[in-house]
Amino acid sequence: MNILVIGSGGREHAIVCSLAASPLSDTIYVAPGNGGSAPGALNVSPAELDIKDHAAVVAFALAHKVELVVVGPEAPLVDGLADSARAAGLDCFGPGAAGAQLEGSKEFSKELMERHNIPTASFGSFTEAGSAHAYIDEQGAPIVVKADGLAAGKGVTVAATIEEAHAAVDECFDGRFGAAGATVVIEEFMTGPECSLLVFTDGTTVLPMAPAQDHKRALEGDEGPNTGGMGVYSPVPIVTNEEHATMLAYMEQTVAALRAEGIDYRGVLYGGFMLTPNGPKVLEFNARFGDPETQVILPRLTTDLVEVTRAVAQGRLSEIELVWDSAWAVSVVLASAGYPGDYETGKPITGIEAAEKLAGVTVYHAGTKLLEDNEACEDTECAAAVVTSGGRVLNVTALGATFEGALEQAYKAVELIDFEGKQYRRDIGARALKGRSAWE
Ligand code: AMP
Ligand code: GLY
Repeated sequence: MNILVIGSGGREHAIVCSLAASPLSDTIYVAPGNGGSAPGALNVSPAELDIKDHAAVVAFALAHKVELVVVGPEAPLVDGLADSARAAGLDCFGPGAAGAQLEGSKEFSKELMERHNIPTASFGSFTEAGSAHAYIDEQGAPIVVKADGLAAGKGVTVAATIEEAHAAVDECFDGRFGAAGATVVIEEFMTGPECSLLVFTDGTTVLPMAPAQDHKRALEGDEGPNTGGMGVYSPVPIVTNEEHATMLAYMEQTVAALRAEGIDYRGVLYGGFMLTPNGPKVLEFNARFGDPETQVILPRLTTDLVEVTRAVAQGRLSEIELVWDSAWAVSVVLASAGYPGDYETGKPITGIEAAEKLAGVTVYHAGTKLLEDNEACEDTECAAAVVTSGGRVLNVTALGATFEGALEQAYKAVELIDFEGKQYRRDIGARALKGRSAWE
């Protein structure tokens, strides 16, 4: 079957690699894709297909005999692309606009959890500054201020002082995040390690993936600004069986809550948890695969991803059994100098092939671009066909029989890859290796 994947990150490259490994997949169209490739996968450039134009996406899918649409990022989901695909009779992996509100609106998500008694930080939500400031004065610091809508991971301020919290509220209402900041959610500050639990769901059946732990801060020692994620590993050694069972129970409760409210949710539900001293609590939900979590989760999934995503889209997930490789997986993000702030692009990348010759190593492309035959690289001596085109450039994933082994192999591969300005965290997994006490 032909498949259309929407998105351009490392997550989408990992999804495409897993779909391409299935004997069921024929041509996989990736719109817009990046410099990464997979057997049978073809990029569809923005000039050929504007993914914001839902009618065009549907027309493309029908014209190319696509039987399954897989939507990677949150924005098209919140925008209702999955609704448009399903209305045209296409099978689609990803929730419609109503379900994607779990990620698209923090207020919606918090209120749903409140209605259904799903443990999360206590909160208030506000549409004008006066009452938000009064709430902060009443609650005190530390406290967390969040823009309601999608803000590319930049809408959250963990404020150590009430002054910082007041400033964050003003920033939201001053329009820094556009419409996404018109409502502000203010939350209780929670402590503990963070852990992501993603599940496949067709709205009824819930099948958990292995837990993963991201490193959100740009710099070693969890310092510096928040990023989309600088490295990740799976499974998560510091999570107890009891915590795992509790997180899964909350995910099942959330899917049941959506169903009870008449929302048909088909895709990935991503639970971001904090393992507090009082047990796991939900930090946030995402309506999609995590990035870079997917780059350590899918390589360990031995079940055919075409079968899984099609069963989700068709509401037949109860027929599927997920089987996981027992290996440990680690992924280190290589980023451009300056990320998450401003950075340069167009830097030639070398060493990817050598890195992938190492046992268990796969290099997923994120912010990369393949040079066209007639396109010159800015470096006239350049022999590389791939150049940087984004902040997070590559995700270097390694599988190993042990956590330490996977880490060592990932960093060996990282050393073989080069581009001007390459930056990465050298401490991915370091805290988890020390055990739970490293968070106390
Ligand atoms: P979010 O996008 O809502 O997951 O928030 C981004 C990051 O901010 C999270 O990964 C946490 O590190 C931090 N954060 C969010 N909410 C809270 C909270 N209530 N207490 C402490 N830290 C938080
Ligand atoms: N890695 C965090 C996210 O995908 O939201």
